[in-house]
Amino acid sequence: MKSALYSRFFILLPWVLIVVIIIDSDTRKPSSSSRLPSARHYSPYWNRRVGRSALMRPQPSDTSVGTWATHQEQVSIPGVQKMKNDTLPIIYAITPTYSRPVQKAELTRLANTFRQVAGLHWIVVEDSPQPTELVNRFLARAGVRATHLHVPTPRRYKRAGLPRATEQRNAGLTWLRQQYQTQLLHRQTTAPGSSPHLPNISGVVFFADDDNTYSLELFQEMRTTQKVSVWPVGLVGGRRYERPVVENGKVVGWYTGWRADRPFAIDMAGFAVSLQVILSSPKALFKRRGSQPGMQESDFLKQITKVDELEPKASNCTKVLVWHTRTEKVNLANEPKHPQDTIKIEV
Ligand SMILES: *[C@@H]1O[C@H](CO)[C@@H](O)[C@H](O)[C@H]1NC(C)=O
Ligand SMILES: *[C@@H]1O[C@H](CO)[C@@H](O)[C@H](O)[C@H]1NC(C)=O
Ligand SMILES: *[C@@H]1O[C@H](CO)[C@@H](O)[C@H](O)[C@H]1NC(C)=O
Repeated sequence: MKSALYSRFFILLPWVLIVVIIIDSDTRKPSSSSRLPSARHYSPYWNRRVGRSALMRPQPSDTSVGTWATHQEQVSIPGVQKMKNDTLPIIYAITPTYSRPVQKAELTRLANTFRQVAGLHWIVVEDSPQPTELVNRFLARAGVRATHLHVPTPRRYKRAGLPRATEQRNAGLTWLRQQYQTQLLHRQTTAPGSSPHLPNISGVVFFADDDNTYSLELFQEMRTTQKVSVWPVGLVGGRRYERPVVENGKVVGWYTGWRADRPFAIDMAGFAVSLQVILSSPKALFKRRGSQPGMQESDFLKQITKVDELEPKASNCTKVLVWHTRTEKVNLANEPKHPQDTIKIEV
């Protein structure tokens, strides 16, 4: 009985090995161009493309600010890549996001816009202790150069009436600063005697919440930001739009339905900051302490600029190029408590 089993095993063994070898060599063949490259394949390529502002992976020890950790996916899909243009300032879009029924739909809308913008680097920051599989998979296929970060909001801040996404926006800023800091140190050690000042860095940072709709024109406008640029935002503050009031090319006030006395009465979607400013004001962050609800933008901008320095975009702030659309709260009244479908589907 036992020996019969053994002999059968030894007859089958060579066949099993042959099948394993065939499958293995098949998956190692160069993939067809339609297959998405995986992270380990494209990171060197990505570094090369970014050129002057080539970014490095954060060091594991780089956890000086809070508990955030990073996980990166750099995606380049042949054909979707825009024409190389090294002179184009990179637009860093920082998007805080959190798990909810509409999350993937919102991220899809953003990706469909961002994919069409040359030189855009998407920094997606999840409000979670771990990167989620959903966002991980999503970014790997989004066709947008992206960095995937995560930081959980401390429990004590998860209350109605408190500002949201503070930690996530700050994690995005910290990541950016660390990337360029690492690069700078690297330059100094490899080229001793070179200028201790920051290299010429042309880039623009803006905060792209996932519940807004962005026109492509907005990116053309913000790309030329010297320090801090501003523009109108639609469907916000209980009005059809809010906007900076501009006279003779200068911001002189705010058209807003809510607390016009704020130093910068502007929505998160209504401004962009040059990377130079972000790097030269390393302490500028979104504040928890002492920050009242709705004052996040103002408290942040106060640290880096003055009203009379603001650069009005969108035809002296007369055009709405971004809308605070907000997706309707979904009705899941008929969703079963326990899975009833025969398959499990990611939504
Ligand atoms: C690169 O960007 C600059 C600045 O926006 C622009 O003037 C130039 O035409 C662009 N070149 C190409 C090849 O797209
Ligand atoms: C770098 O910055 C300096 C000082 O702002 C400027 O004079 C120079 O033209 C810049 N170089 C490039 C290549 O942008
Ligand atoms: C904005 O206003 C200034 C001053 O009135 C004017 O010189 C400039 O051409 C305007 N810009 C646009 C894009 O309309």
